[in-house]
Amino acid sequence: MSHIQSVVARSVWDSRGCPTVEAQVTLSSGHTGRAIAPAGASTGAGEAKELRDGGHTFKGLGVGQAVRLVHEVVAPALQGMDIHDQAAIDAAMCRADGTPDKSRLGGNSLTAVSLACLWAASAHADLPLWRYLSGSDEVSLPLPEIQIFGGGAHAKGSVDLQDFLALPHGARSFAQSLEWVAEVYHAAGKSLSQQGKNLGVADEGGFWPQFGSNEAAIEALVKAIELAGFKPGVEVSIGLDLAATQYHSAGVYHWRSEGRQFDRDQLLQVYERWVNDYPIISMEDGFAEDDTEGMRIMTALLGDRLQIIGDDFFVTHAAQIAERAAMGACNAVLIKPNQVGTVSETMAALQTAKQHQLDSIISARSGETEDVSIVHLAVGWGVPQLKVGSFSRSERMAKWNEGLRIEQSLGRSGTYPAEHLFRWL
Ligand code: PGA
Ligand code: ZN
Repeated sequence: MSHIQSVVARSVWDSRGCPTVEAQVTLSSGHTGRAIAPAGASTGAGEAKELRDGGHTFKGLGVGQAVRLVHEVVAPALQGMDIHDQAAIDAAMCRADGTPDKSRLGGNSLTAVSLACLWAASAHADLPLWRYLSGSDEVSLPLPEIQIFGGGAHAKGSVDLQDFLALPHGARSFAQSLEWVAEVYHAAGKSLSQQGKNLGVADEGGFWPQFGSNEAAIEALVKAIELAGFKPGVEVSIGLDLAATQYHSAGVYHWRSEGRQFDRDQLLQVYERWVNDYPIISMEDGFAEDDTEGMRIMTALLGDRLQIIGDDFFVTHAAQIAERAAMGACNAVLIKPNQVGTVSETMAALQTAKQHQLDSIISARSGETEDVSIVHLAVGWGVPQLKVGSFSRSERMAKWNEGLRIEQSLGRSGTYPAEHLFRWL
């Protein structure tokens, strides 16, 4: 047994150069744990609210108040608690916050403290975090979903869709998956540069391209997979995060880059044609976060041959997953710890997804840091897919590299489940 002795928070910097909260927990045994909260840009309305200082400094994104409240409210509430009772720790923080959306203490501080406690508990148990979570269960490395082109809210002025991802489901190990996607990523970059279409780097590290249409970006990704020497749809397929809330308003879906507007049925027709014409096996947030009917008809039409993920649509909330899954919307859930604010609630979301036969994908945010907690959550909880952005910039590579370390430490005892995913392939 070891107890929480102190909780210290500080303001550190994320991959967009914005402040974020880091928490450090020290135990009576002397062990410590540390974690940093990430931040979204295309956030869902139902997410835990970040506590930001407002005003002019740092675009209003300072976290001085959040840090102060960790010291004044969270630390006293947690002091003396058993570090191995994560549920009680998270419940104590939720009680201290007292709001349904964590707006008093901030989802950002609660996420950092909750994860820091988990790291401290694994340090006290003298286990890697993934092993602390998995117990003696056999574990697997997740299939990486890696962004090649970024658009939408992460690359303003580019195409409307947010993520064009490579899914190397034909690879036989996590390491091989990364090797394959590295080739696709570099082939895509070379091809863009040759055509003079590379505008820079999007928020999650992918290329920020200048394409004439959203579909042109899909075509370019198919080309990049082929140029890299892989068979599209067999070895490497495509995933899209459409983040459709960003191009939805008053019942109309509007792609500004193309000057086109759609109603729900017209948009679904476009998606159906794309699934028929391209090696697309996964689509996230194809309809807006409040368009349950859109997600429902998409799942009814395409759910037997497409992974249909809800991200902003579920916001990692167990109750919202249960309610909307029961209506037939989506067959997979994106899991982001800071959308809900604590480790225990994230776990509840995962369990609810499982109960409703939904697949799960653990995901980073567009604003990230060197924190690698989510990789350990994916391995330790047996979540078979991991999405952390692109194949460049160290806040992304830190996660891929952590996966490589874990895979190597498993040696022959680890399995790689990618071939069991996407059962229609
Ligand atoms: P966000 O985007 O972190 O900016 O919300 C990531 C995603 O939509 O998956
Ligand atoms: Zn998303």
